[in-house]
Amino acid sequence: MIPINDLSRGYRLYQDEYEEAALRVLRSGWYILGKELSDFEMEYAAALSDDCYCAGVDNGLDAILLGLKASGIEPGDEVIVQANGYIATMLGVMQCGAVPVFVEPDEYYQLDPANIEEKITSKTKAVLVTHLYGLATRMEPVIEVCEKHGLMLFEDCAQSHFAPYKGTYTGLFGTASFFSFYPTKNFGGFGDGGGVVSKDKAIIDRVKVLRNYGSDYRYHNIAMGYNDRLDELQAAMLRVKLKHIKDLLANRDHIAQRYLKEIKNPKVMLPETPEGCIHTWYQFVVRVDDQEGFREFLKNKDVATDIAWKTPPYLQPVMTEKFGFKRGDYPKTEEICDTIVSLPMMDHMDEDEIQSVIDVVNTY
Ligand SMILES: Cc1ncc(COP(=O)(O)O)c(C=O)c1O
Repeated sequence: MIPINDLSRGYRLYQDEYEEAALRVLRSGWYILGKELSDFEMEYAAALSDDCYCAGVDNGLDAILLGLKASGIEPGDEVIVQANGYIATMLGVMQCGAVPVFVEPDEYYQLDPANIEEKITSKTKAVLVTHLYGLATRMEPVIEVCEKHGLMLFEDCAQSHFAPYKGTYTGLFGTASFFSFYPTKNFGGFGDGGGVVSKDKAIIDRVKVLRNYGSDYRYHNIAMGYNDRLDELQAAMLRVKLKHIKDLLANRDHIAQRYLKEIKNPKVMLPETPEGCIHTWYQFVVRVDDQEGFREFLKNKDVATDIAWKTPPYLQPVMTEKFGFKRGDYPKTEEICDTIVSLPMMDHMDEDEIQSVIDVVNTY
C-alpha cells in the first residue's frame, strides 16, 4: 500500500543530524526554555523575514489562542474565518471568548475575499485567514477590506510554512500569525509544537509571558497565563529541519508536478494555483463526484487516500450545539467537503510510487 504519508521517511533523510541534536539536548541537562528554543525562535523568524519575531509554543491551537489574546482579541469580539477551515482555528477563537463568523471559500479552497464585507458587524474585530493545503490566500484583497474597515488581520499558517504570496511568505501580512509544527506538517517536528510570529515585538513578548504561567520574570506573574512552552528537544529537531526545509519542499513539488502533468482523467479535477502564489503541497487535493467510490477504487489498488475533512467544522457537534448551525448553511463548503480527496504526499516518494499513483488514478 502506498501510504498517504509516512513520517519515518522524513526522519531517515536526515537521521544522523536529528539523532546528534537529540543527544545534544539529552546530555545538556536543560530541557525547557533554554538555548535551543531561543536559537530556534531567532532562526525561524530570520528564515521568514528580517523584520519579524517568533515565540515557540506547545502546539498550533495554543499559538492561535495565545497569539489572539496577546494581540488584544477579547470576549464578545467577532472574528471572520473561512467555513471550510480547520476546527482548531475556530477553537482558538472561541477559547478567547470570541465568536467565529464564517465565510465561504474561493475555488482555490482559501477564504474568498469577496465574501468578507457582508459579514462585518459592529462587533467584528479581525479576519483570521487559514492558508489551507500549503497554498496562500489571495492576500491583497483581504488586506484591502481589513484596512477599509479597521480590522486586525491574522493568519493561520499551520499548513503554509514558507508558502509565498507575491514574493512574501504567509505569516508576514497581518498583526500576528500562528504556526503548527505537528509532525505531519510540511515543517513539523517529532511531537507537538507551534509558534507565533509577528513584526510587533510587544506581541511576541506577551506570548512569551502567557506561555509561561503569565510570568515576566522568575516567580513573578503578571497575567492569567498557561503552561504552553515549546520544549528544547522539539526546538532542536526543528532547527535541524529548518536547514533542509527548502529541499523538503522541493521534494513535494516534484511529486505534485508529476501528478499535475501526468494525471489525465476527466473524472478527476486537479488543484489550481492562483497567480502570485507558489503551492507548497501540504496536501495534494483532487475533486471527484463519487468521493467514496474513488477512495475505494484506489484502496483496492493499494493507494491510500484521505479527506481533509469530511465534516466542516461548523457542523461538528461542539459547534452546532453552541451556535445552531445546520447542513445547508454554507453550500460551497459542503460541496467541497463532499468531493475532495487527498492523494499520497510526503517528504519523499520513489519515482515508481509516484508512477503507481498516477496510473491508478488514470485507470479510475
Ligand atoms: C489549519 C490548522 N490550524 C491549526 C491547527 C492546530 O495545530 P496543532 O495540531 O499543532 O494544535 C492545525 C493542525 O492540524 C491546522 O491544520
